[in-house]
Amino acid sequence: MLNKIGVIGGGNIGGVLAQLLVTRGYAKNVALVDVKGPDLAAGKMLDIAEATPVIRSDVQTAGSKEYDVLEGAELVINTAGVPRAARPDGTLPTREELLEVNLKITDAVSAGIKANCPDAIVISIANPLDAIVYRLHMNLGKTRAKLMGMAGVLDSARYRYFIAQEAGVSVENIDAMVLGGHGDSMIPIRSACRIAGMPVEKFISPEKLDAIEARTRSAGGEVVKLLGSGSAFVSPAQSALEMAEAIIYDKKKIIPVSAYLEGEYGVNGLYIGVPAVLGKNGVEKIIEMDLTDAEKEAFKNSAAAVQKTTDEVLAMGK
Ligand code: APR
Repeated sequence: MLNKIGVIGGGNIGGVLAQLLVTRGYAKNVALVDVKGPDLAAGKMLDIAEATPVIRSDVQTAGSKEYDVLEGAELVINTAGVPRAARPDGTLPTREELLEVNLKITDAVSAGIKANCPDAIVISIANPLDAIVYRLHMNLGKTRAKLMGMAGVLDSARYRYFIAQEAGVSVENIDAMVLGGHGDSMIPIRSACRIAGMPVEKFISPEKLDAIEARTRSAGGEVVKLLGSGSAFVSPAQSALEMAEAIIYDKKKIIPVSAYLEGEYGVNGLYIGVPAVLGKNGVEKIIEMDLTDAEKEAFKNSAAAVQKTTDEVLAMGK
């Protein structure tokens, strides 16, 4: 159990996160900051606090428009940013199209972290995922252990769900990873997908797997279109919690996260999704998977796509 966890952004994802953090008792204190008035964060945390007698939780809560509510947090989860929303003509912006507005928000988030909890481990969820984490890296200058992005858990969960539905077996039987950038170039790693330890191809035809993997790549957009406003929020919040739990309980769990690569997978100086060991220090080790030639090529293409957005972040300066 930690002393304090901070959540930045109290919208759809941040609201679910705060609620789950209090319910699960991962820290003695849970604090939420959001700039939205009159005081969205205070209101959400008061609502959550007033349920604590019913759920039998003594977790202390605080919410504010001011970042000093995060003071001393050991772990921070950042959800501040504008989500994707379908345009009036029904088309979707890409996550990358959110870049300019979300970079400005990220700079404010960085200042808040620096001033109030400079030593915190940070998990970021805002989109475009890998580029926003890169900006936090530029602004915060943290070691790679202490800063990571949440995408791979969610993309892998979507892949696992679709596989389980198609095979007609429990989701608990599905072991799978989605790596690369959190965008259209993400790579469901079929060669590492197992159903109860057996290759996925034993249960599902290659054509069906192609369709499932295509659906996985556009799964976020599928939810955006159905919701009509905003994007997925329960599955991203639960996914970030899996990472938080591995860190809080020092589980040494291998989880796909957006991490800073220093030569691994042939990539240098980029945040991109790879399997990593998460423990009390954060990202404790990057795991290099044995990929097929086609998967290696797809990873290279995904890294090129992430590099392009990261270059825009660099071009937009500080
Ligand atoms: N500091 C704190 N909170 C902020 C700031 C800021 N500088 N700027 C905006 N916010 C808040 C907004 O007021 C809003 O309440 O961030 C919240 C975002 O909530 P939603 O709009 O409901 O978005 P959500 O669905 O939670 O997604 C957040 O995660 O998955 C990504 O693409 C998604 O980038 C988006 C982010």
